[in-house]
Amino acid sequence: MHASTTSAPPILQARDVSKFFGAITALRGVNLQLMPGEVLGVVGDNGAGKSTLMKVLSGLFAPSEGEIVFEGRTIQMQSPRDSRRIGIEMVYQDLALAGNMPIHENIFLGREVQKPLLGLPLLNKKAQREMAQEHLNRLKIHVKSVDQNVEDLSGGQRQAVAIARATAFDAKVVIMDEPTAALAIKEVGKVLDLIHILKEQKVAVIIISHRMDDIFYACDRVMALYQGTNFAESSIANTSRNEVIGWIMGTKGNTTALAHDGMVQ
Ligand SMILES: Nc1ncnc2c1ncn2[C@@H]1O[C@H](COP(=O)(O)OP(=O)(O)OP(=O)(O)O)[C@@H](O)[C@H]1O
Ligand SMILES: [Mg+2]
Repeated sequence: MHASTTSAPPILQARDVSKFFGAITALRGVNLQLMPGEVLGVVGDNGAGKSTLMKVLSGLFAPSEGEIVFEGRTIQMQSPRDSRRIGIEMVYQDLALAGNMPIHENIFLGREVQKPLLGLPLLNKKAQREMAQEHLNRLKIHVKSVDQNVEDLSGGQRQAVAIARATAFDAKVVIMDEPTAALAIKEVGKVLDLIHILKEQKVAVIIISHRMDDIFYACDRVMALYQGTNFAESSIANTSRNEVIGWIMGTKGNTTALAHDGMVQ
């Protein structure tokens, strides 16, 4: 295949990806394209395959069939470490932060800033603290101090630290699995604003959400999975909340009645 020289290729693609867990088919022939700097919303009912697709894209699961293409090249990932190395980061639903450790240590967890001393790496806490603070400033994340333990933060602050961690090392793609699900309204806004800041910094983002407000506030495009397959997708400008809610329920076409059935959030 010859790439066009005029338009940038997608930064990340899933091509015909299927994922089987024994007899369960979680994904069947799914395609996804993410353009550089784009914010893509992924929606779908519980069990539609959203988290599984993201885990395939971030190297946690190998696809049973199909391939993952990053910057035009097929990649084979053995673990999230491989995806992280090339600039794909995932913020998991359960965040995976260490509650009893300070913010700055969480941001650098597993990849501490090291200063060689007599040939031996030595953790440079001062540099780490300063870099963490600068990074939080860049993302306009306000905390009292980077020395605060994560368990003492609010849900929204914790989510922000998880996103800061995911973007601290030149991520090109950040995948977020329901980043606002557990948050109060005020904190939801902050997380969505953070996604705007990432977009300004040319980071491409995939966000899974069940909340139409999130999708229509933060995303450029939205795609719907239904029972493990591609169902529909559109630019945000060319669709509506009701239409997307219809897709989640597996219907296309006239969905005006859905606005009254309690599904609208
Ligand atoms: N590790 C696993 N082993 C077996 N089945 C799995 C595994 N992970 C996911 N599944 C199954 O794959 C299907 C898709 O699950 P997935 O978690 O991707 O859905 P989802 O769209 O993220 O749903 P939700 O909105 O509830 O988070 C489900 O039927 C689920 O039970
Ligand atoms: Mg999920």
